[in-house]
Amino acid sequence: MEERIVSAARLPQDGEGDVSLRPRLLRDFIGQQQNKGNLEVFIRAALRRGEPLDHVLLYGPPGLGKTTLAHIIAQEMGVRLYPTSGPALERPGDMAAVLTNLEANEVLFIDEIHRLPRVVEEILYPALEDFCLDIIIGKGPGARSLRIDLPPFTLIGATTRAGLVSLPLRDRFGIILRLDYYPKEDLFKIVTRAASLLGIELEEEGAWEIAGRARGTPRIATRLLRRIRDFAEVADTKIVTQDLVKSALEQLEVDEAGLDKVDRILLATVIEKFQGGPVGLDTLAAAAREEPGTIEDVYEPYLLQMGYLQRTPRGRVATPSAYEHLGIRCPSPKGSSSLRQTTLFPEEDEA
Ligand SMILES: Nc1ncnc2c1ncn2[C@@H]1O[C@H](COP(=O)(O)OP(=O)(O)OP(=O)(O)O)[C@@H](O)[C@H]1O
Ligand SMILES: [Mg+2]
Repeated sequence: MEERIVSAARLPQDGEGDVSLRPRLLRDFIGQQQNKGNLEVFIRAALRRGEPLDHVLLYGPPGLGKTTLAHIIAQEMGVRLYPTSGPALERPGDMAAVLTNLEANEVLFIDEIHRLPRVVEEILYPALEDFCLDIIIGKGPGARSLRIDLPPFTLIGATTRAGLVSLPLRDRFGIILRLDYYPKEDLFKIVTRAASLLGIELEEEGAWEIAGRARGTPRIATRLLRRIRDFAEVADTKIVTQDLVKSALEQLEVDEAGLDKVDRILLATVIEKFQGGPVGLDTLAAAAREEPGTIEDVYEPYLLQMGYLQRTPRGRVATPSAYEHLGIRCPSPKGSSSLRQTTLFPEEDEA
């Protein structure tokens, strides 16, 4: 699959480069007011009691700040954070090793926690509840169980797929925070802050332009900013104006709604090849020459969220906003299909 600039997933070129844009303290973390307010209370209370923070589960779409928040929590608690991930903890022994290395009140961060193998997850249950480990020594009839005490600690789990976290595990988190897409105003602040950290002179209108196309996602906002900086650099411009932002984003094929070429092809396929749908996922995938799984996990969520696409029991349907966005006239409810103004598949239209 081609790497897309508007993908919310981490890309290799997101490497933070010279300056890290990750906010270190809660007060520098922009947006998510409700979550932030609650966290502040929980952290302050735990600090006052001299206890570790209750276990935290962070969930939500990629690029919204789960990892960032985990680091902030450790920083605010004044403790170290041990990062690991579900797939990295393959055997129960891996988990036992990580847990026995923790010191009092420290944070264990497990990214992609929904991918913890079941046998590993089971080791966690008593650790989370009673801060102890039950280890089986030996095999067969001679095997015996040994209980090891652990220092109190905080587990922070992060996942983009909360539905895949097993119920017994979910129940052991005292604090569950859901991160949601950011409104344009917050993205504006995030872009402005990032520009100043990167030493970019970004005009206010330029910042709004980026904010509007960042798909509600800080990671995309800062990535667009970095690419636009490249255009400014090559054009030998010191100040990044709205015009420069617009032309750079045009060059990158990111439109006013933050859709890229693939998004538009997908919508145009539903509209032009399937009369707006409903069309089944597999059929759509074959027509658009994409994997069904990729459409479902990567392209579709944003189109659904923006209301360009709908999922119905009979398949995907393009909404009137999708027609409008592509400049194609939406057929009237009675369905005269000869109302198209423009087409993205002219050659096939003639046939
Ligand atoms: N609220 C915010 N304020 C400022 N910058 C933010 C904020 N949230 C995220 N960012 C920026 O966006 C980038 C992506 O955030 P982060 O890596 O924490 O996302 P994530 O939710 O962990 O994503 P993934 O699900 O892919 O692991 C960070 O490098 C950070 O610079
Ligand atoms: Mg992360």
